[in-house]
Amino acid sequence: MTGTGDGRTAPAGDVIGYRRDEGAHPPYLYPDYVGTRRRAPDRPLVVVPHTLSEITGPLYGHSSIGELDHDLTRQHAGEPLGQRIIVHGRVLDGDGRPVPDALIEVWQANAAGRYAHEVDDHPAPLDPNFSGAGRCLTGSDGRFEFITIKPGAYPWKNHPNAWRPAHIHLSIFGRAFVTRLVTQMYFPGDPLFDQDPIFNSVRDPRARARLVSTFDPERTVPEWALAYRFDIVLRGRDATPMEA
Ligand SMILES: [Fe+2]
Repeated sequence: MTGTGDGRTAPAGDVIGYRRDEGAHPPYLYPDYVGTRRRAPDRPLVVVPHTLSEITGPLYGHSSIGELDHDLTRQHAGEPLGQRIIVHGRVLDGDGRPVPDALIEVWQANAAGRYAHEVDDHPAPLDPNFSGAGRCLTGSDGRFEFITIKPGAYPWKNHPNAWRPAHIHLSIFGRAFVTRLVTQMYFPGDPLFDQDPIFNSVRDPRARARLVSTFDPERTVPEWALAYRFDIVLRGRDATPMEA
């Protein structure tokens, strides 16, 4: 393994990879988040060297983006219930440069806090006009935008009376299949932050703050939608915390 002095590592003869900054990202095991007790690795990780096949192999999803895939409010015959919002931002690398052509996929609960998914059977209503999934590519300036509704909080049984703060899940694929990152975006001022072990598994409060979007009055649309900004920084001291 060869250190490059800037956080990158590479076994001799292989393509350079990036080391995970444990200060900015949640640990594999965070006992208050009960699910990590079952899935956290209990043996040292085995580093599988990247080779050219990972970098040059087929891409997933980039070529099949529909015109309205970024608009979660227009996927059905009617409009979903809830507060319509615009979620936008930029994907940036560790030096603040925009990252074009990143595939961003989002998934979220509906306004009542219910996922349109078979394992979510808690007693909140489904919305026939809301599937809760969308995707788009970043432009040449790294920008992305979604139109959706603000998700509701939902109970999840991690601990007594556990509720997740309102959040949107995001997956970011780069120009290779092995470059996927996953994170969650939250909303400012949520009263549920303090009791949420997923949010608090990011131990550095400055890193945790980077998971919270900012209300963006400039991008609100009168009589139509509120707006939130969420920039995604892939690495470096301002990196957005990413799930293991
Ligand atoms: Fe969720």
